[in-house]
This record gives sequence, structure tokens and C-alpha cells, in this order.
Amino acid sequence: MFNLILFGPPGSGKGTQSEKLIAKYRLKHLSTGDLLRSEIAAQTPLGLEAKNFMDKGQLVPDEVVIGMISTALDANQDAEGFLFDGFPRTEAQAEALDKLLKLKKTSIHLMLALDVSEDELISRLLNRGKTSGRSDDTNETVIRARIAEYHKKTSTVADYYNKFDKVRHVKGEGPIEDIFSALCKEIDKKKG
Ligand code: AP5
Repeated sequence: MFNLILFGPPGSGKGTQSEKLIAKYRLKHLSTGDLLRSEIAAQTPLGLEAKNFMDKGQLVPDEVVIGMISTALDANQDAEGFLFDGFPRTEAQAEALDKLLKLKKTSIHLMLALDVSEDELISRLLNRGKTSGRSDDTNETVIRARIAEYHKKTSTVADYYNKFDKVRHVKGEGPIEDIFSALCKEIDKKKG
């Protein structure tokens, strides 16, 4: 089993690169953003609660996302490995993920962190907001709140995995294919 975290601020290309990585390495893609948007679309109580936070660019409470990931792990017992996208986003989530994976006798093998400048993030998200229908992409204030939330609560999650020498940084700007190649290089090095 090979478990990967794709890490980076909003708009850094996690979703874009995840699609390519799961196809190449046959990983199960677990994106908490996508799971939350499905709950919102289905108008579940969890979705309605989460929407209040997401529309303001704030993180959804830890217990909500940890519960969702736990359910998703149980529902994919046969997976050859997982790609976590947008999770963990706090140290509490990282600790909870470690415990959940330990129960399955596995762990995180690698965190790949995409580095992208703030100007580029804002321009990508405003651009996507023209067509995505995502309420958190449509105005710059919310986009800046998402980035601020990342610096305040999420960026330190890389320090958590760095203690175990599991973090590799990759430049997240430039052609999508070049970034994909750089990510694959790091995975192949780790897999040996
Ligand atoms: P989530 O859905 O995870 O969104 P995000 O982290 O804000 O990331 P995005 O999906 O906006 O960006 P991305 O890095 O995936 O980039 P993408 O490939 O799409 O979270 C949304 C909300 O849900 C959070 O704010 C929070 O409220 C809640 N949430 C989710 N997980 C949570 C958790 N664990 N705990 C608590 N709350 C949680 O690319 C962006 C754009 O750039 C696209 O248009 C793409 O085409 C373009 N692009 C990609 N690569 C390139 C490139 N190389 N060059 C030019 N353009 C590019």
C-alpha cells in the first residue's frame, strides 16, 4: 500500500494533479473538498453545516472532516493506496489520520507540497470562479480568507510530517505536465 498527501494552498493545483496521479499510481482519490461539495449538493445536514464555513473561506470543524475520511477509508478496504487531497488541514486532522491508518496497519509514506506564489493562486481562483460555480471562488475577499486560513492553520501540517522526513516540495507553477513529471519523480524515488 502507498499513501500520499498532496499538499498546498488553495489553487495550487492539488485537484488537477490528483487526477493524473491516481490514474498512474492506481490510488483512491480522497478529496475532503469534493466530499463536502457532494454533501452540499445532496443537501444533507452535514452539507448544510459545512456550507456556512466554506462560503466564508473558513475551515470546516475537524470532527466533521475526520468522520468523513474515516467513513471513506472503511468504504474502500480494497484500495491499493490513497491520495489525500485537501486533508489533513490541521494538526488534529493529521494526528487523527495517523491513528486511522494505524488501525489499518499502514501509514502516510509521502507528502508532496506544491509551492505557488500568492498572486498566481488568486489569479487562478478568480479565473476558475468565472465558470466553476463554486461560491468560494467568486470573490477575492473569500479567496484571500481561504489563503489566510491556510497560513494560520494548515501550513504547519507540513512541519508535522517533516519531523518524519516525509515532505518533498515541488514547484507548482509552469506547465501542468512538467509539474506532474516532478511529482512522479519524487514518488518513484520514494517507492524505489
Ligand atoms: P478544497 O476543495 O480542498 O479547495 P482548496 O484547497 O481551496 O483547493 P482548490 O480546489 O481551490 O485548489 P487546488 O489546489 O485543488 O487546485 P486546482 O487543481 O483546483 O476546499 C474547499 C473548502 O472546503 C475549504 O475552504 C474548507 O472550507 C473546506 N475543506 C476542505 N477540506 C477541509 C479539511 N480537511 N478541513 C476543513 N475544511 C475543509 O487548480 C486551481 C485552478 O488552477 C484550476 O482552474 C486549474 O485549472 C488551474 N491550474 C492548475 N494547475 C495549473 C497550472 N500549472 N498553471 C495554470 N493553472 C493551473
